Amino acid sequence: MKIAGTAYRTLWPLPSGAVCVIDQSRLPFEFVTLELASLEDAAHAIRTMVVRGAPLIGATAAYGLALALRAEASDERIAAAAEALRATRPTAVNLAWALARVRRVIEPLPVPQRAAAAFAEAGRICEEDVAQCRAIGEHGAKLIRERSAEVRRRVNVLTHCNAGWLACVDWGTALAPIYVAHDAGIELHVWVDETRPRNQGASLTAFELGAHGVPHTVIVDNLGGHLMQHGEVDLVIVGSDRTTATGDVCNKVGTYLKALAARDNGVPFYAALPVSTIDWSLEDGRAIEIEARDAAEVTHLTGRTAAGTLERVRVVPEGSPALNLAFDVTPGRLVTGLITERGVCAASRAGLAQLYPERAA
Ligand code: MRU
Repeated sequence: MKIAGTAYRTLWPLPSGAVCVIDQSRLPFEFVTLELASLEDAAHAIRTMVVRGAPLIGATAAYGLALALRAEASDERIAAAAEALRATRPTAVNLAWALARVRRVIEPLPVPQRAAAAFAEAGRICEEDVAQCRAIGEHGAKLIRERSAEVRRRVNVLTHCNAGWLACVDWGTALAPIYVAHDAGIELHVWVDETRPRNQGASLTAFELGAHGVPHTVIVDNLGGHLMQHGEVDLVIVGSDRTTATGDVCNKVGTYLKALAARDNGVPFYAALPVSTIDWSLEDGRAIEIEARDAAEVTHLTGRTAAGTLERVRVVPEGSPALNLAFDVTPGRLVTGLITERGVCAASRAGLAQLYPERAA
């Protein structure tokens, strides 16, 4: 994706052996890149959400493991580094998936070859992510085109959180169909849920869509139901941090309420995700570990003042406790379909088995 005419991915390796990322904690106000040179740098970037979004967390963890092996690549070092990275954030399965994938490749190798092989595998994970997100975009754009033909006017798509190129290596999951459809000349407009408490919609999705010239409007998280009741939402597309083998979709907190409102109003509700987001070991989304984050993200807001400085202000009375669970689970029965790199399927075991017969077996 391009920022001010320059094409960027969200992370890229440097000739020094370090990895460069965009510091998403500074967006949308400052576009700053950051070098990750060690395991600790990578773990810190994931934990503090300098990088975030399920596929990007996975890609960063893969590079983090490679960085950890530059000095020493023993079995013990691999296990300890993988555990340190895995512990940074619990919900997005792409993290554990990427670590397991790199380990499968490097552990059978002689120790001196492991670091280079880990870097190469991290690079392949990134390339595959870009290709998969692009394919998700093509498949999802067909749905937008169909909806456009049905409504015969500008299509209104609602999305939650940020499942765009900033959440992946490029393109995005939920936003990829929007970019492909927009670039193909389909007239569309995006309702962007602000996505409290961290406001990834207001800060990141709005930034991305604006940079790409996609018409959009930021709304408070609670407006979606009202807009659906009044025919102002034609389609919902969200991302996913972990989807079970039975099609339950775990995504940013608030997604479930959008799915309920969509069902009540007959609005198609899709989740877009690559295969790396599917947890084939899980049957029931309620078993997914939901990340509990610092209550201060709920009690405080950060923004830019008129003077141009970033400030954090308290919005909850002193002494009132706050609960900050970062994700929720939408049962597959509320999901119209899953948009994957292989096509669109029902959010069910049978639907996923059709697209991924090798996993079903
Ligand atoms: O807490 P975050 O910002 O990492 O959460 C991101 C989301 O919930 C996205 O919607 C999800 O990762 C899908 S990303 C392609």
